[in-house]
Amino acid sequence: MSKIANLEIDGKKYEFPLVVGTENEIAVDISSLRSSTKGIITIDPGYKNTGSCESAITFLDGEKGILRYRGYSIEELAEKADFLEVAYLLIFGELPNQEELEKFHADIKSHSVVDDDVKKILDAFPKSAHPMGVLSSLTSALTAFNPSSVDVNSEEQMYNAIVRILGKFPVLVAWTMRKKHGLPLEYGDDSLGYVENVLKMMFKSPNKEYEQNPILIDALDKLLILHADHEQNCSTSTVRITGSSHAGLFVSLSAGISALWGPLHGGANQAVLEMLEAIKEDGGDTKKYMAKAKDKNDPFRLMGFGHRVYKNFDPRAKIIKKAADEVLGDLGVEDPILDIAKGLEKEALEDKYFVDRKLYPNVDFYSGIIYRAMGIPTDMFTVMFALGRLPGWIAQWREMRLRKEPIGRPRQLYVGETQRSFKSINKR
Ligand code: ACO
Repeated sequence: MSKIANLEIDGKKYEFPLVVGTENEIAVDISSLRSSTKGIITIDPGYKNTGSCESAITFLDGEKGILRYRGYSIEELAEKADFLEVAYLLIFGELPNQEELEKFHADIKSHSVVDDDVKKILDAFPKSAHPMGVLSSLTSALTAFNPSSVDVNSEEQMYNAIVRILGKFPVLVAWTMRKKHGLPLEYGDDSLGYVENVLKMMFKSPNKEYEQNPILIDALDKLLILHADHEQNCSTSTVRITGSSHAGLFVSLSAGISALWGPLHGGANQAVLEMLEAIKEDGGDTKKYMAKAKDKNDPFRLMGFGHRVYKNFDPRAKIIKKAADEVLGDLGVEDPILDIAKGLEKEALEDKYFVDRKLYPNVDFYSGIIYRAMGIPTDMFTVMFALGRLPGWIAQWREMRLRKEPIGRPRQLYVGETQRSFKSINKR
């Protein structure tokens, strides 16, 4: 195959090199387009055809339903690894050996105390505040409590910032939920694994011992692994572009949390449950909602269906569907919401509209069902997603800084008014 792409504009020919990735993906390198054509740019709303960077972290093939972190398949990692190993893998590129993993965990634990004054900020939020808004604010606030900026040329400083946020973030997650539910704010237990500690911090009741449930630990571990990275999605691109101005790690993460909040992205898991509840309240008529989803005059969309990249199936959804069945079975949960979900799934998979558009259940369709069975409140679902995505955001931020990427600054095609004269207020 030729290694050159040719472009002809107004009879003039331009050549652009093709770049090939390790999985034989091909990109046209148009970085010289604007200078060589004297001002012509590309336009690509939603960046559907635009690679914003080269990355060695996550590979996904939406047509074949493949997802790999650093070369390892998501199926294998979900089955055999734990969340902390996956976090290490994503951030540093290799699976840790026992010694490296123990050190990583010990370093995280040594940073798992949050300045007590952060509680004052939390106190100022009304109980009605959405946990994602609170989490984004608290993550940003951490910068004020840990102000020294990270010298990205120092591996040590970079590592310290990473273990610090991995230690403090679960505390913020737990406090966000406990505050809303009027529970005392507690610190974690250093004797526990990362995920066990998260569960205890979230659910420990003030008047009794917390009993760990291995089913819940396993389910949460899997969920966090499945959410840990997904290449250049909306929130990750936000983290990278924020960090590209050399803004610090914590504020870049805070920006990512805000991007994740939206219902078309991480907020979908909450939206799925709310949709299922609404269908239940309305008598459980799934056909009515299928018709609404297909009606172009109705803004309703079947939440948890469709994906920008996966146009065959979402490999995470397959793993999580199995986990949902296991968790619900093991916990003995019978939930009418689950029946509605199964009904919708069956109808959508057989419906021409959904089949033609390659709309399949995505990871969020099932994750909310597991979170609900675990006793996690609906408005905390996206917070749990953020907890899982944290190592991915960190890995992407680190990669972007180590590769010395330029500041992210897209162009635009201006379609507004051409120059006009100012009219004083009494003449308007
Ligand atoms: N329900 C009904 N119709 C849908 C849905 C849906 N969930 N998703 C897409 N479509 C239709 C669109 O109306 C469009 O139809 P048309 O071609 O007749 O105009 C077609 O399918 C293509 O949809 P787009 O919006 O162009 O696809 P895009 O790639 O831009 O959007 C997205 C992907 C945002 C995920 C979309 O499928 C959606 O809104 N899904 C519901 C929200 C959701 O579940 N988000 C979670 C994503 S996963 C994650 O972030 C972890």
